Amino acid sequence: MIHKIAVLPGDGVGPEIIQEGVNVLKAVQEKYKGEINFEFEHALIGGCAYDEYKTPLPDSTIELAKKSDAVFLGAVGDWKYDTLPPQVRPEKALLGIRKALNLFANLRPAVVFDELIDSSTLKPEIIRGVDIMVVRELTGDVYFGEPRGIETVNGKKAGFNNMIYYENEIERIAHVAFKTAMKRNKKLCSVDKANVLDCSRLWREIITNISKEYPEVELTHMYVDNAAMQLIRNPKQFDVIVTGNIFGDILSDEASMLPGSLGMLPSASLSDTKLGMYEPIHGSAPDIKGQNIANPIATILSAAMMLKYSFSLDDAAKDIENAVKKVLQKGYRTKDIYTQGTELTTTSRIGNLIVNELLRN
Ligand code: IPM
Ligand code: MG
Repeated sequence: MIHKIAVLPGDGVGPEIIQEGVNVLKAVQEKYKGEINFEFEHALIGGCAYDEYKTPLPDSTIELAKKSDAVFLGAVGDWKYDTLPPQVRPEKALLGIRKALNLFANLRPAVVFDELIDSSTLKPEIIRGVDIMVVRELTGDVYFGEPRGIETVNGKKAGFNNMIYYENEIERIAHVAFKTAMKRNKKLCSVDKANVLDCSRLWREIITNISKEYPEVELTHMYVDNAAMQLIRNPKQFDVIVTGNIFGDILSDEASMLPGSLGMLPSASLSDTKLGMYEPIHGSAPDIKGQNIANPIATILSAAMMLKYSFSLDDAAKDIENAVKKVLQKGYRTKDIYTQGTELTTTSRIGNLIVNELLRN
């Protein structure tokens, strides 16, 4: 069986980190010769696609993604596109592909590696052992709600968006979250702002109803402001967090600071089929592009998530995770996670070291 992977490197550091991710996937193929086969096909997305086609998300890219088994994405965006009209900005491509592939469930794990305890700005005793999965709804909420725009209302300019969730959207993300909790420590915290927002009141009602189908999962609710505070006060209280698109965007960036660097965090965006999109949660970092210093680990761990969630290759996914751990244990670091006494190295070298570990075991 051949797994078809659409490779979309994107902008900024995207191409460098995706290259390392692809190398690691090729190493997996080598290790499981004859058993695991990947086919890679590249396409443009983001600013580089705009330069070529005058749109950040060409139809050909969507077509390729739709006929693939998984999408492997780097990052999109660069300063030089900041002045483009909103409809053709690189970020629009990200929202567009999520919607086009119906990727409504975004899984963002925040796991603290013991080896990196000192890279975090938080105290070791607070973060040691943290293992949180943020389940963020990805195709609804104020991100996509209509009406939206900037108009003149009673002589004044007004900017507006619509925070709206349909019950079916809340139900399907709830099922993903409860099922995720069932495979972990069976604790689910739903985050909303039900003390103020009607949209959140419906969210809470539906999550509570669905919880009856998962009696083993302990469900709690938390307001988003409190959740933001609790995440750094006592992150170990969390197992799985489920929340809407905008709160999930903010909280997952916050959670990424527990492990110390955005450069460590992978993500999976899933639909109700096996087709998923896998990308690091960090952006395109145009300030360091082309310097071979970006951390490729978030991307490499995203490849591991791809093996697990789209291809059900759990052993091979574990192999990647173990290889990453080994390289960290041996003290190799990119700049973002460097601390005294460790060895500072490059994007490509970290990638090579991970490939070597993978092939050794
Ligand atoms: C993310 C990013 C995107 C989002 C942006 C780039 C559109 O911040 O994936 O978290 O807001 O979803
Ligand atoms: Mg974000």
